[in-house]
Amino acid sequence: MHYLKQQEQATKSPADYWQEQAELVAWYKAPQTILSTNQDSWHDWFKDGELNSCYLALDYHVEQGRGSQTALIYDSPVTGQKQKFSYQELTSLVAKFADVLRAQQVEKGDRVLIYMPMIPQAAIAMLACARLGAIHSVVFGGFAANELAVRINDAEPKVIVSASCGIEISKVIPYKPLIDEAIATAAHKPSRCIIYQRPEAIAQLTEPTDIDWQTQMDVAVEIPPVPVKSTDPLYILYTSGTTGKPKGVVRDNGGHATAMLYSMKNIYGMKQGDTFWAASDVGWVVGHSYIIYGTLMAGCTTIVYEGKPIKTPDAGAFWRVCSEYKVNALFTAPTAFRAIGKEDPEGDFLKDYDLSALKRLYLAGERLDPATYHWLKEKTNLPIIDHWWQTETGWAIASTPLNDGDGNIVKTKAGSAGFPVPGFNVQILDSQGKQVAAGKQGNVAIKLPLPPGCLATIYRDPQRLKSGYLSTYPGYYMTGDGGFIDDEGYLFIMGRTDDVINVAGHRLSTGEMEEVLSAHPAVAECAVVGINDELKGQVPLGLVVIKNGITATDEALTAELKQSIRNDIGAIASLKNLYIIERLPKTRSGKILRKTLRQMIDGDQVEIPSTIEDSQVITELTEKLVNLNSVYK
Ligand code: COA
Ligand code: AMP
Repeated sequence: MHYLKQQEQATKSPADYWQEQAELVAWYKAPQTILSTNQDSWHDWFKDGELNSCYLALDYHVEQGRGSQTALIYDSPVTGQKQKFSYQELTSLVAKFADVLRAQQVEKGDRVLIYMPMIPQAAIAMLACARLGAIHSVVFGGFAANELAVRINDAEPKVIVSASCGIEISKVIPYKPLIDEAIATAAHKPSRCIIYQRPEAIAQLTEPTDIDWQTQMDVAVEIPPVPVKSTDPLYILYTSGTTGKPKGVVRDNGGHATAMLYSMKNIYGMKQGDTFWAASDVGWVVGHSYIIYGTLMAGCTTIVYEGKPIKTPDAGAFWRVCSEYKVNALFTAPTAFRAIGKEDPEGDFLKDYDLSALKRLYLAGERLDPATYHWLKEKTNLPIIDHWWQTETGWAIASTPLNDGDGNIVKTKAGSAGFPVPGFNVQILDSQGKQVAAGKQGNVAIKLPLPPGCLATIYRDPQRLKSGYLSTYPGYYMTGDGGFIDDEGYLFIMGRTDDVINVAGHRLSTGEMEEVLSAHPAVAECAVVGINDELKGQVPLGLVVIKNGITATDEALTAELKQSIRNDIGAIASLKNLYIIERLPKTRSGKILRKTLRQMIDGDQVEIPSTIEDSQVITELTEKLVNLNSVYK
């Protein structure tokens, strides 16, 4: 069917459209109620359906005779390891690890926090939780102890599952000290830590709280999947909002499974036996959806890659993996290709590998800038598909269809994320909530209901769902992104309209960074804004006003403040630009003019707001920040 027709059907009659798509799922009990409203006035999908997400990802394929097919490939240039797991092998390991968790009293509905590097045990732990109906909350390995503690307090996990270390390009990062520090500072205390020991750094385990993964696995038995309701949570994934407190996005089971199977088929064009590589991390939503659940539910082969696009060992790493495992579609963040393009501008490494299996490249996490789009198109000659999504939605809101439904190729446009995917009724609204004309920028909103697979609530805080996403425009979900739709219907996502920034595809809150900086005793006030960066898309820039009477040098203070961001948030925050200034531009009501700051730093025309407290401060700062601009560039 033509994709425009599909969009129309999904918009006009969402329940009928998604009832049909839900037939892709091997439910234990097929749902009769498709779309309903719950006590939080939010929508439930398939509320009386029953299923198990781990069963769908593993056992189902074994039952269908695909047990010997490769389910997961582990490729780790940082350790030199390569390993393949068939569906049968992976099912068996997951069923045993579910027993390990059960032996620690983990039951349906209990939370398990997973803090793991990119190793197969991360996938095993996640799927084992799903098997039991327990709710996993994976925390990205690059987050510091304080971030872990915040998540421990909110999710209140019974158990933490981790590894003894993560491995970055040239360093081993022991995880256990970070976990110990997080638990020591958190109010909630998990009862057990299950640690997978890696030879690169063996962790000191303290009995009875710490237990060894392998010792438990050696005595575990395989246990079957536990049926759960469609609306039971599968996982909580914390993401940055505009405040210092991350939001726990809750994903259901039934809507998620439907969205995963639908998207693997319709967005990525994958079928059973294909190899799909999402070069991301299990700590991000892309990892949840397309390293683990979607790829396995669709019966494809997934790749857990423990390495980087460059330096492990070179800028040919991605092409090597694609060629070695006959990857059919690759999905990663534009920043990865900017890094590759910088090291190998002519694409010489591409010539060393047979990429005949590779059909399409998918990009997300940040806008695919036109320069990278053109570079990729020219060097690979493949369809380059930028698609837009968020942790909250769990899958793509916009993408370019595989074809128009009548067999014709749908062309992509540089800078555009394509068309709204059926189920997402995307509209561009002005500040009054009125739709704007084609080509005009506005706030990108999605008319309710959202399709299956999107956020079920914010963990422990359904009110935040309303205040954060639903209150600006009644009847719409506010995405927090700005953009426009052109006269051919192509959607362009131009950037966040709030204090969230995307650093190398990692979503971070400038508000949270400001909280960390403000906590320093020498800081009177500060502002952190995202500035353009050639490699990472955006990086934070901090401007700090110091209290009177502080004797420490600016240099010493700057170093201390940068370190506090690394300690409290993590190295991924990449706060390398931090400057001490006399005063910040503010409105008369005391609001810091962040937009004005961004314009100054990026060298754009500065619009001086009429509500400015003292316009002299703008003149002084502009000069200083324009100089900074030339320094950091
Ligand atoms: N555990 C611990 N530390 C981590 C980490 C992890 N999982 N991931 C990153 N870090 C650290 C890095 O070691 C680095 O530390 P340093 O400042 O001490 O050197 C810091 O965080 C910043 O890392 P990163 O953002 O990865 O920058 P980089 O300069 O090392 O590498 C790229 C640049 C472009 C190669 C890298 O960002 C990349 O591979 N990006 C792709 C991102 C991606 O896939 N995002 C997923 C969204 S789909
Ligand atoms: P995350 O929740 O970490 O996936 O980050 C979501 C945010 O990343 C979105 O709100 C956008 O700001 C940005 N983003 C993701 N994909 C794209 C894309 N294809 N184009 C533009 N921005 C994107």
